[in-house]
Amino acid sequence: MAAAVVVEVVNKIKNMNIPYRTSGTQENYHAADLTFRENGDIVWTNPVTNEIWEVMMDWEIPIMQKAAEVCVEAGDDVLECGFGMGILSDAIQARNPGTHTICETHPQIIPKLKAWAKDKPNVIVIEDKWLSLLNERKGYDAILMDTYADPDLHPHFRYFVKQKAKDGAKITWWNFSGGTTDEYMRFYWDDVVFHDVAISPPENQYYNRKVYHVPVKIYNRETGFGVLSNSNFNTSETEAKNLEEARSFLICDISNGTKSVKDVDGVERLAMYCEGLYTLNESLVIAGSHSIYVKRNNQWTTVKVNELVVGDKLYGKDGEVELTSKTFDSSETTRQIYKVMLNNYFVNDILLKGGSDA
Ligand SMILES: C[S@@+](CC[C@H](N)C(=O)[O-])C[C@H]1O[C@@H](n2cnc3c(N)ncnc32)[C@H](O)[C@@H]1O
Repeated sequence: MAAAVVVEVVNKIKNMNIPYRTSGTQENYHAADLTFRENGDIVWTNPVTNEIWEVMMDWEIPIMQKAAEVCVEAGDDVLECGFGMGILSDAIQARNPGTHTICETHPQIIPKLKAWAKDKPNVIVIEDKWLSLLNERKGYDAILMDTYADPDLHPHFRYFVKQKAKDGAKITWWNFSGGTTDEYMRFYWDDVVFHDVAISPPENQYYNRKVYHVPVKIYNRETGFGVLSNSNFNTSETEAKNLEEARSFLICDISNGTKSVKDVDGVERLAMYCEGLYTLNESLVIAGSHSIYVKRNNQWTTVKVNELVVGDKLYGKDGEVELTSKTFDSSETTRQIYKVMLNNYFVNDILLKGGSDA
Protein backbone atom coordinates (compact mmCIF):
# COMPACT_ATOMS: atom_id res chain seq x y z
CA MET A 1 0.00 0.00 0.00
CA ALA A 2 1.37 3.41 -0.86
CA ALA A 3 2.40 5.55 2.10
CA ALA A 4 -0.19 8.20 1.24
CA VAL A 5 -2.96 5.62 1.30
CA VAL A 6 -1.78 4.31 4.68
CA VAL A 7 -1.86 7.82 6.09
CA GLU A 8 -5.31 8.36 4.67
CA VAL A 9 -6.59 5.10 6.18
CA VAL A 10 -5.07 5.84 9.58
CA ASN A 11 -6.58 9.31 9.54
CA LYS A 12 -9.97 7.91 8.69
CA ILE A 13 -9.73 5.53 11.61
CA LYS A 14 -8.77 8.36 13.94
CA ASN A 15 -11.72 10.34 12.68
CA MET A 16 -14.02 7.43 13.42
CA ASN A 17 -13.07 7.68 17.09
CA ILE A 18 -13.59 3.99 17.69
CA PRO A 19 -12.55 2.64 21.09
CA TYR A 20 -10.94 -0.52 19.80
CA ARG A 21 -9.26 -3.27 21.77
CA THR A 22 -6.08 -1.45 22.67
CA SER A 23 -4.94 0.60 25.61
CA GLY A 24 -2.70 2.66 23.40
CA THR A 25 0.29 0.91 24.98
CA GLN A 26 0.73 -1.94 22.58
CA GLU A 27 4.31 -2.74 23.52
CA ASN A 28 3.37 -3.01 27.21
CA TYR A 29 0.82 -5.72 26.50
CA HIS A 30 3.35 -8.07 25.00
CA ALA A 31 5.77 -7.51 27.88
CA ALA A 32 3.12 -7.80 30.58
CA ASP A 33 2.31 -10.71 32.87
CA LEU A 34 -1.17 -11.80 32.01
CA THR A 35 -3.71 -12.92 34.57
CA PHE A 36 -5.79 -15.96 33.68
CA ARG A 37 -8.97 -15.85 35.73
CA GLU A 38 -10.78 -18.95 36.98
CA ASN A 39 -13.33 -18.84 34.17
CA GLY A 40 -10.50 -18.48 31.64
CA ASP A 41 -10.83 -14.72 31.08
CA ILE A 42 -7.51 -13.06 30.27
CA VAL A 43 -6.63 -9.64 31.69
CA TRP A 44 -3.46 -7.63 32.23
CA THR A 45 -2.45 -4.57 34.22
CA ASN A 46 -0.75 -1.80 32.36
CA PRO A 47 2.30 -0.99 34.53
CA VAL A 48 2.35 2.59 33.28
CA THR A 49 -1.24 3.49 34.10
CA ASN A 50 -2.20 0.65 36.52
CA GLU A 51 -5.35 0.14 34.49
CA ILE A 52 -6.69 -3.39 34.16
CA TRP A 53 -7.54 -4.35 30.62
CA GLU A 54 -9.45 -7.37 29.46
CA VAL A 55 -7.92 -9.23 26.52
CA MET A 56 -10.63 -11.86 26.15
CA MET A 57 -13.69 -12.87 28.17
CA ASP A 58 -15.95 -15.88 28.13
CA TRP A 59 -19.14 -13.90 27.41
CA GLU A 60 -17.80 -13.70 23.84
CA ILE A 61 -18.45 -17.42 23.27
CA PRO A 62 -21.62 -16.86 21.15
CA ILE A 63 -19.76 -14.27 19.05
CA MET A 64 -16.88 -16.64 18.33
CA GLN A 65 -19.27 -19.46 17.51
CA LYS A 66 -21.16 -17.27 15.07
CA ALA A 67 -17.91 -16.14 13.42
CA ALA A 68 -16.86 -19.76 12.85
CA GLU A 69 -20.34 -20.72 11.65
CA VAL A 70 -20.55 -18.00 9.00
CA CYS A 71 -16.96 -18.29 7.78
CA VAL A 72 -15.75 -21.87 7.98
CA GLU A 73 -16.77 -24.90 5.95
CA ALA A 74 -15.45 -28.44 6.22
CA GLY A 75 -12.19 -28.86 4.32
CA ASP A 76 -11.35 -25.15 4.27
CA ASP A 77 -7.86 -23.76 4.68
CA VAL A 78 -8.46 -21.50 7.66
CA LEU A 79 -6.27 -18.76 9.11
CA GLU A 80 -7.01 -17.61 12.65
CA CYS A 81 -5.13 -14.64 14.10
CA GLY A 82 -4.90 -14.44 17.90
CA PHE A 83 -5.48 -17.58 20.04
CA GLY A 84 -6.47 -15.88 23.31
CA MET A 85 -8.70 -18.29 25.24
CA GLY A 86 -8.99 -20.65 22.28
CA ILE A 87 -12.76 -20.20 22.08
CA LEU A 88 -12.76 -19.41 18.39
CA SER A 89 -10.17 -22.14 17.80
CA ASP A 90 -12.53 -24.73 19.30
CA ALA A 91 -15.42 -23.43 17.22
CA ILE A 92 -13.33 -23.64 14.05
CA GLN A 93 -12.11 -27.16 14.85
CA ALA A 94 -15.71 -28.27 15.36
CA ARG A 95 -16.33 -27.43 11.70
CA ASN A 96 -13.58 -29.78 10.43
CA PRO A 97 -11.30 -27.46 8.48
CA GLY A 98 -8.76 -29.00 6.13
CA THR A 99 -5.97 -26.97 7.68
CA HIS A 100 -6.19 -24.56 10.61
CA THR A 101 -3.30 -22.13 10.90
CA ILE A 102 -3.17 -20.10 14.13
CA CYS A 103 -0.85 -17.13 14.75
CA GLU A 104 -0.12 -15.99 18.28
CA THR A 105 2.45 -13.56 19.67
CA HIS A 106 2.13 -13.36 23.46
CA PRO A 107 4.80 -15.47 25.24
CA GLN A 108 2.33 -16.67 27.86
CA ILE A 109 -0.35 -17.64 25.37
CA ILE A 110 1.90 -19.44 22.88
CA PRO A 111 2.45 -22.41 25.28
CA LYS A 112 -1.30 -22.69 25.78
CA LEU A 113 -1.81 -22.73 22.04
CA LYS A 114 0.85 -25.42 21.62
CA ALA A 115 -0.70 -27.60 24.32
CA TRP A 116 -4.13 -27.20 22.75
CA ALA A 117 -2.80 -28.03 19.28
CA LYS A 118 -0.92 -31.16 20.34
CA ASP A 119 -3.62 -33.70 19.41
CA LYS A 120 -4.90 -31.80 16.37
CA PRO A 121 -3.02 -32.80 13.23
CA ASN A 122 -4.65 -30.20 10.99
CA VAL A 123 -3.45 -27.29 13.19
CA ILE A 124 -0.39 -25.29 12.17
CA VAL A 125 1.00 -23.11 14.95
CA ILE A 126 2.74 -19.89 13.95
CA GLU A 127 4.60 -18.32 16.85
CA ASP A 128 4.68 -15.00 15.12
CA LYS A 129 2.44 -12.18 14.02
CA TRP A 130 0.02 -12.82 11.18
CA LEU A 131 1.80 -10.28 8.99
CA SER A 132 4.78 -12.67 8.84
CA LEU A 133 2.64 -14.94 6.64
CA LEU A 134 3.03 -12.52 3.76
CA ASN A 135 6.27 -14.39 3.10
CA GLU A 136 4.61 -17.76 2.52
CA ARG A 137 2.59 -18.68 -0.52
CA LYS A 138 -0.40 -20.41 1.02
CA GLY A 139 -3.87 -18.93 0.44
CA TYR A 140 -6.89 -19.26 2.71
CA ASP A 141 -10.63 -19.92 2.34
CA ALA A 142 -11.35 -18.15 5.62
CA ILE A 143 -9.44 -15.54 7.61
CA LEU A 144 -10.63 -14.81 11.15
CA MET A 145 -8.88 -11.85 12.73
CA ASP A 146 -9.14 -11.27 16.47
CA THR A 147 -5.88 -9.85 17.76
CA TYR A 148 -5.26 -7.43 20.60
CA ALA A 149 -2.98 -4.42 20.89
CA ASP A 150 -2.03 -5.00 17.29
CA PRO A 151 -0.38 -2.08 15.48
CA ASP A 152 -0.40 -3.93 12.13
CA LEU A 153 -4.14 -4.28 11.93
CA HIS A 154 -5.27 -0.99 10.46
CA PRO A 155 -2.36 -0.25 8.15
CA HIS A 156 -1.98 -3.78 6.77
CA PHE A 157 -5.06 -5.96 7.11
CA ARG A 158 -6.72 -4.97 3.84
CA TYR A 159 -3.52 -5.50 1.89
CA PHE A 160 -2.88 -8.78 3.71
CA VAL A 161 -6.31 -10.08 2.76
CA LYS A 162 -5.68 -9.18 -0.85
CA GLN A 163 -2.53 -11.27 -0.82
CA LYS A 164 -3.73 -14.23 1.21
CA ALA A 165 -7.44 -14.73 0.50
CA LYS A 166 -8.47 -17.29 -2.08
CA ASP A 167 -11.23 -16.29 -4.44
CA GLY A 168 -14.52 -16.33 -2.51
CA ALA A 169 -12.76 -16.44 0.88
CA LYS A 170 -14.73 -15.34 3.92
CA ILE A 171 -13.09 -12.73 6.11
CA THR A 172 -14.15 -11.64 9.58
CA TRP A 173 -12.58 -9.51 12.31
CA TRP A 174 -13.29 -8.09 15.72
CA ASN A 175 -15.84 -5.37 15.15
CA PHE A 176 -14.79 -2.53 17.40
CA SER A 177 -18.00 -0.63 16.94
CA GLY A 178 -19.68 -1.68 20.12
CA GLY A 179 -18.34 0.47 22.92
CA THR A 180 -19.74 3.91 22.47
CA THR A 181 -20.31 4.56 18.80
CA ASP A 182 -22.51 3.34 16.01
CA GLU A 183 -19.64 3.22 13.56
CA TYR A 184 -19.02 -0.30 12.33
CA MET A 185 -15.64 -1.54 11.25
CA ARG A 186 -15.75 -2.22 7.53
CA PHE A 187 -12.11 -1.81 6.61
CA TYR A 188 -13.43 0.32 3.75
CA TRP A 189 -14.96 -2.61 1.95
CA ASP A 190 -18.41 -1.52 0.87
CA ASP A 191 -20.06 -4.94 0.90
CA VAL A 192 -19.59 -6.15 4.46
CA VAL A 193 -22.50 -8.15 5.86
CA PHE A 194 -23.17 -8.15 9.61
CA HIS A 195 -24.59 -11.11 11.52
CA ASP A 196 -26.23 -10.08 14.78
CA VAL A 197 -25.59 -12.03 17.97
CA ALA A 198 -27.45 -11.50 21.24
CA ILE A 199 -25.02 -11.23 24.16
CA SER A 200 -24.96 -10.36 27.85
CA PRO A 201 -21.55 -9.02 28.76
CA PRO A 202 -20.73 -8.09 32.35
CA GLU A 203 -19.45 -4.51 32.74
CA ASN A 204 -16.10 -4.35 30.95
CA GLN A 205 -13.70 -1.97 29.22
CA TYR A 206 -14.56 -2.72 25.62
CA TYR A 207 -18.10 -3.83 24.83
CA ASN A 208 -21.22 -3.28 26.88
CA ARG A 209 -24.09 -3.73 24.47
CA LYS A 210 -26.69 -6.44 24.14
CA VAL A 211 -26.11 -7.10 20.47
CA TYR A 212 -22.85 -7.67 18.61
CA HIS A 213 -22.46 -7.56 14.85
CA VAL A 214 -20.13 -10.18 13.36
CA PRO A 215 -18.78 -8.69 10.12
CA VAL A 216 -18.19 -10.85 7.07
CA LYS A 217 -16.59 -9.80 3.83
CA ILE A 218 -16.58 -12.27 0.97
CA TYR A 219 -13.38 -11.56 -0.89
CA ASN A 220 -13.69 -11.94 -4.62
CA ARG A 221 -10.47 -11.57 -6.49
CA GLU A 222 -10.53 -9.06 -9.27
CA THR A 223 -10.81 -10.98 -12.47
CA GLY A 224 -10.22 -10.13 -16.06
CA PHE A 225 -8.24 -11.22 -19.02
CA GLY A 226 -5.24 -9.87 -20.81
CA VAL A 227 -1.62 -10.52 -21.54
CA LEU A 228 1.40 -10.12 -19.33
CA SER A 229 2.40 -6.47 -18.98
CA ASN A 230 5.81 -6.85 -20.63
CA SER A 231 4.53 -8.70 -23.71
CA ASN A 232 5.53 -7.61 -27.20
CA PHE A 233 2.57 -5.77 -28.67
CA ASN A 234 2.93 -5.53 -32.46
CA THR A 235 2.81 -1.84 -33.26
CA SER A 236 3.30 -2.19 -37.04
CA GLU A 237 4.15 -4.93 -39.57
CA THR A 238 7.79 -4.66 -38.54
CA GLU A 239 7.86 -3.48 -34.92
CA ALA A 240 6.73 -4.64 -31.48
CA LYS A 241 6.91 -2.81 -28.15
CA ASN A 242 5.73 -3.23 -24.60
CA LEU A 243 2.48 -1.53 -23.74
CA GLU A 244 4.00 1.51 -22.06
CA GLU A 245 6.03 2.30 -25.16
CA ALA A 246 3.54 1.29 -27.83
CA ARG A 247 2.00 4.26 -29.66
CA SER A 248 0.00 2.10 -32.07
CA PHE A 249 -1.34 -1.42 -32.52
CA LEU A 250 -1.22 -3.71 -35.53
CA ILE A 251 -4.78 -4.90 -36.07
CA CYS A 252 -6.37 -7.23 -38.61
CA ASP A 253 -9.68 -7.59 -40.39
CA ILE A 254 -10.14 -11.33 -40.13
CA SER A 255 -12.73 -11.46 -42.98
CA ASN A 256 -10.16 -10.52 -45.63
CA GLY A 257 -6.83 -10.68 -43.79
CA THR A 258 -6.14 -6.94 -44.19
CA LYS A 259 -3.78 -5.55 -41.60
CA SER A 260 -3.64 -1.92 -40.53
CA VAL A 261 -2.10 0.23 -37.84
CA LYS A 262 -4.36 1.78 -35.22
CA ASP A 263 -3.16 4.76 -33.21
CA VAL A 264 -3.00 4.05 -29.47
CA ASP A 265 -4.89 7.25 -28.63
CA GLY A 266 -8.44 6.48 -27.68
CA VAL A 267 -7.75 2.80 -27.13
CA GLU A 268 -8.58 1.90 -23.56
CA ARG A 269 -6.00 -0.24 -21.77
CA LEU A 270 -6.85 -1.75 -18.42
CA ALA A 271 -4.20 -2.93 -16.00
CA MET A 272 -5.25 -5.70 -13.65
CA TYR A 273 -3.77 -8.49 -11.66
CA CYS A 274 -4.22 -12.12 -12.41
CA GLU A 275 -2.99 -15.52 -11.36
CA GLY A 276 -3.24 -18.78 -13.25
CA LEU A 277 -1.73 -17.65 -16.57
CA TYR A 278 -1.03 -19.76 -19.65
CA THR A 279 2.18 -19.62 -21.64
CA LEU A 280 1.75 -20.39 -25.34
CA ASN A 281 4.72 -21.52 -27.43
CA GLU A 282 6.96 -20.61 -24.49
CA SER A 283 6.53 -16.87 -25.05
CA LEU A 284 2.99 -15.52 -25.01
CA VAL A 285 1.75 -15.26 -21.42
CA ILE A 286 -1.99 -14.80 -21.38
CA ALA A 287 -5.06 -15.24 -19.18
CA GLY A 288 -7.09 -18.37 -19.79
CA SER A 289 -10.30 -16.42 -20.39
CA HIS A 290 -8.79 -14.34 -23.20
CA SER A 291 -10.23 -15.16 -26.64
CA ILE A 292 -7.82 -16.09 -29.38
CA TYR A 293 -8.19 -17.05 -33.05
CA VAL A 294 -7.79 -20.69 -33.91
CA LYS A 295 -8.37 -22.71 -37.06
CA ARG A 296 -10.96 -25.41 -36.51
CA ASN A 297 -12.62 -27.42 -39.34
CA ASN A 298 -10.64 -25.29 -41.75
CA GLN A 299 -12.26 -22.10 -40.50
CA TRP A 300 -11.00 -19.32 -38.26
CA THR A 301 -12.98 -19.05 -35.08
CA THR A 302 -12.34 -17.83 -31.53
CA VAL A 303 -11.94 -19.88 -28.38
CA LYS A 304 -10.79 -19.07 -24.88
CA VAL A 305 -7.10 -19.71 -24.36
CA ASN A 306 -7.81 -22.42 -21.81
CA GLU A 307 -9.62 -24.41 -24.55
CA LEU A 308 -6.64 -24.46 -26.91
CA VAL A 309 -4.87 -27.77 -27.49
CA VAL A 310 -1.36 -28.38 -28.70
CA GLY A 311 -1.48 -28.82 -32.47
CA ASP A 312 -4.09 -26.07 -32.95
CA LYS A 313 -3.29 -23.51 -35.64
CA LEU A 314 -3.12 -19.90 -34.43
CA TYR A 315 -3.49 -16.79 -36.60
CA GLY A 316 0.05 -15.49 -36.95
CA LYS A 317 1.13 -12.14 -38.35
CA ASP A 318 2.89 -13.89 -41.23
CA GLY A 319 0.67 -16.95 -41.57
CA GLU A 320 -0.53 -19.90 -39.53
CA VAL A 321 1.40 -20.75 -36.38
CA GLU A 322 1.18 -24.15 -34.77
CA LEU A 323 0.62 -24.25 -31.03
CA THR A 324 3.53 -26.42 -29.94
CA SER A 325 3.30 -25.94 -26.18
CA LYS A 326 0.83 -24.68 -23.64
CA THR A 327 1.71 -24.56 -19.95
CA PHE A 328 -0.33 -23.34 -17.01
CA ASP A 329 1.05 -21.61 -13.93
CA SER A 330 -1.19 -22.85 -11.14
CA SER A 331 0.75 -21.06 -8.40
CA GLU A 332 -0.72 -18.17 -6.48
CA THR A 333 1.74 -15.75 -7.98
CA THR A 334 -0.16 -12.66 -8.98
CA ARG A 335 1.12 -10.82 -12.03
CA GLN A 336 0.10 -7.67 -13.78
CA ILE A 337 -1.71 -8.12 -17.05
CA TYR A 338 -3.15 -5.68 -19.57
CA LYS A 339 -6.50 -5.88 -21.24
CA VAL A 340 -6.65 -3.89 -24.47
CA MET A 341 -10.12 -2.79 -25.50
CA LEU A 342 -9.48 -3.39 -29.16
CA ASN A 343 -10.69 -6.10 -31.51
CA ASN A 344 -8.11 -8.27 -33.24
CA TYR A 345 -4.66 -7.11 -32.27
CA PHE A 346 -1.34 -8.92 -32.47
CA VAL A 347 0.83 -9.77 -29.48
CA ASN A 348 4.04 -11.72 -30.01
CA ASP A 349 2.94 -11.99 -33.68
CA ILE A 350 -0.26 -13.86 -32.73
CA LEU A 351 -3.75 -12.47 -33.33
CA LEU A 352 -5.92 -12.09 -30.22
CA LYS A 353 -9.60 -11.34 -30.24
CA GLY A 354 -9.51 -8.64 -27.56
CA GLY A 355 -12.22 -6.02 -27.16
CA SER A 356 -14.84 -5.88 -24.45
CA ASP A 357 -16.68 -9.03 -25.51
CA ALA A 358 -13.66 -11.29 -25.80
C1 LIG B 1 -8.84 -11.17 21.87
S1 LIG B 1 -7.63 -12.39 21.95
C2 LIG B 1 -8.22 -13.61 20.85
C3 LIG B 1 -9.37 -14.35 21.41
C4 LIG B 1 -9.76 -15.55 20.64
N1 LIG B 1 -10.48 -15.19 19.43
C5 LIG B 1 -10.61 -16.48 21.45
O1 LIG B 1 -11.64 -16.94 20.95
O2 LIG B 1 -10.27 -16.79 22.58
C6 LIG B 1 -6.32 -11.64 21.06
C7 LIG B 1 -5.09 -12.50 20.93
O3 LIG B 1 -4.30 -11.97 19.87
C8 LIG B 1 -2.93 -12.09 20.21
N2 LIG B 1 -2.16 -11.19 19.34
C9 LIG B 1 -1.88 -9.89 19.50
N3 LIG B 1 -1.22 -9.38 18.43
C10 LIG B 1 -1.08 -10.42 17.57
C11 LIG B 1 -0.51 -10.56 16.26
N4 LIG B 1 0.03 -9.51 15.62
N5 LIG B 1 -0.53 -11.76 15.65
C12 LIG B 1 -1.10 -12.82 16.28
N6 LIG B 1 -1.68 -12.76 17.52
C13 LIG B 1 -1.68 -11.58 18.15
C14 LIG B 1 -2.94 -11.76 21.67
O4 LIG B 1 -1.78 -12.16 22.33
C15 LIG B 1 -4.19 -12.51 22.13
O5 LIG B 1 -3.91 -13.82 22.48
